[in-house]
Amino acid sequence: MSETIGVYEVEDRKFPPRPEFAANANVADRAMYDEAEADYAAFWAGQARELVSWSTDFHTTLEWELPYAKWFVGGELNITANCLDRHVEAGRGDKVAYHWEGEPGDTRSVTYAELLTEVCKFANVLKAQGLEKGDRVAIYMPMILELPIAMLACARIGVAHSVVFGGFSADAIADRCDDASARMIITADGGYRKGAAAPLKPTVDAALESGAASVETVIVANRCDLDPDMVDGRDLWWHDVMAEASADCPAEPMDAEQLLYILYTSGTTAKPKGIMHTTGGYLTQVAFTHKYVFDIKPETDIYWCAADIGWVTGHSYIVYGPLSNGVTSVMYEGTPDTPAQDRLWDIVERYGVTQLYTAPTAIRMFMKWGSQEPAKHDLSSIRVLGTVGEPINPEAWMWYHEHIGGGQTPIVDTWWQTETGSNMITPLPGVTTTKPGSACHPIPGVFAELVDDDGNPVASGGGYLTITHPWPSMLRGIWGDDERYKETYWSRFEGRYFAGDGAKLDDDGYLWLLGRVDDVMNVSGHRISTTEVESALVDHSAVAEAAVVGANDEMTGQAIIGYVILRGGNEPGHELGDQIREHVGVKLGKIARPKTVVIVPDLPKTRSGKIMRRLLRDVADGRQLGDTTTLADPGVVAEIADRAAVAGDDEG
Ligand code: WTA
Repeated sequence: MSETIGVYEVEDRKFPPRPEFAANANVADRAMYDEAEADYAAFWAGQARELVSWSTDFHTTLEWELPYAKWFVGGELNITANCLDRHVEAGRGDKVAYHWEGEPGDTRSVTYAELLTEVCKFANVLKAQGLEKGDRVAIYMPMILELPIAMLACARIGVAHSVVFGGFSADAIADRCDDASARMIITADGGYRKGAAAPLKPTVDAALESGAASVETVIVANRCDLDPDMVDGRDLWWHDVMAEASADCPAEPMDAEQLLYILYTSGTTAKPKGIMHTTGGYLTQVAFTHKYVFDIKPETDIYWCAADIGWVTGHSYIVYGPLSNGVTSVMYEGTPDTPAQDRLWDIVERYGVTQLYTAPTAIRMFMKWGSQEPAKHDLSSIRVLGTVGEPINPEAWMWYHEHIGGGQTPIVDTWWQTETGSNMITPLPGVTTTKPGSACHPIPGVFAELVDDDGNPVASGGGYLTITHPWPSMLRGIWGDDERYKETYWSRFEGRYFAGDGAKLDDDGYLWLLGRVDDVMNVSGHRISTTEVESALVDHSAVAEAAVVGANDEMTGQAIIGYVILRGGNEPGHELGDQIREHVGVKLGKIARPKTVVIVPDLPKTRSGKIMRRLLRDVADGRQLGDTTTLADPGVVAEIADRAAVAGDDEG
């Protein structure tokens, strides 16, 4: 265990909630924890009835047949009625749902009533295209308002959306469409990034050339006037189909367990897993955590989750959570350094943002840009700061606290996963005394335990993070691969959900997340599978064999390092190394492109032929090399180390 999770410095600074904050906080004492501890199912039933509007009440809170959960059985609801109609019906239709800001500086604010109209119209468009409850639709869009509108329109009629992050490749789109038999792709001509229009539609075209045979229709929103090729009989303009659509589309009640969406995430094999989320339990825990972890006051708050909707964070905390709680959100299209490195702080000041939710990678980047950037702006509106996606190092936590939070604002370090659907381990800002770098404790109603290699609970020190009871927003499975669901999450430790993370419990009972213990890398808070990158590397004609590891990286948490053996007849060289890197970028998308490709004559393997990734990680981290006696050829490691040193020099 110690080998995989490393050593964590003891961090004993403590930040109790300020009394001024606690006095007005949504949760200021431990009553909810106690209530949930006593009977967690009853606790969640109470939250479901308080936070969610049901058209039919559920008769059974939880049916749990390990590893299959059904929550709120018999209940019926429409998630968009919760996100939109009920606010409009309560007279809050004129409230702004999103202040949207385009990267070039154009802005658009939509009210809840306007959003409802758009969603109804687009739902009718989907129906007119023959889509029915139970179908799947892929969405590949930039961060424009049409994206949440498309998702909600699907949800309104029981079509499951599968959002594919806009940075992914044509192959990635095709694979996901094939896996889910998606009938439609909703996209845009492009979106603005780093000061220019980045095309998206050509990537969809390429995906449809190579696969995705189930896709019948492509709907294209016009964001950048890029004038993309439109295929007759297949491609339709968003504005054309919307012009004719009726705004009358009553919310149809759905079963609590109706499939809401599939979101693909990387696992330990080359094939991404389609994580399935359903309606009632998902909404309950998303609404609950959004309201209490971020201390949401819908009347006055301007909440901003600066993630991309292409990831689960955006699904839960840009779309479903904030809309269900009826708060006003900010949504931003572009990059944080366009046109200048104070773009985020400028947005915070102009809209008076009260909650900001971002990732440690972004915080480290802001640190590098310097504290003079946030200092140019009045950030005093911020009440709660959030972080997600990877362990936050205490220095970044302290910088966030001091330079964005003015030394006062509580920070919620939220641990969760695509699979968990919503926050699981996090402070509650009015209750928890935080420690920089610790996600603190499970939320009320969630139960986490660390176990050793044999599955025995550990009372303190390092262990594998497991969840011991079902939770409402848990994944309901992997699309089309039930065996993999059981195998991945429920087989390592009997009766427990295994998250794939290592963690440490300190003497005060605080949890410190230490990163993945499997072959999944975390690069800038994005999960990338080593095997997926390896298969993209060997897909290059010059590559015979490849091994990929995540090396420690100051900015991105981990960086992808690929070691490759060339096929005979290829000359090692920088040009070829770069070509191979680019090839991965094209195959999987830029986020999966290795930072460094090291061309090696051989790879370190055990006698049974298993690649020794641990050794390669050590090499990549420039550490002392470990015990090499299990190597087929110990000489290989020294050679790899030499080459890695040279490649590393070039990188800088
Ligand atoms: C990591 C993102 C430490 C973890 C919501 C997890 C974290 C994976 C934290 C899930 C955190 C996420 N502290 N590590 N606060 N949040 N992680 O599915 O390794 O993209 O297993 O979901 O990110 O990544 P995913």
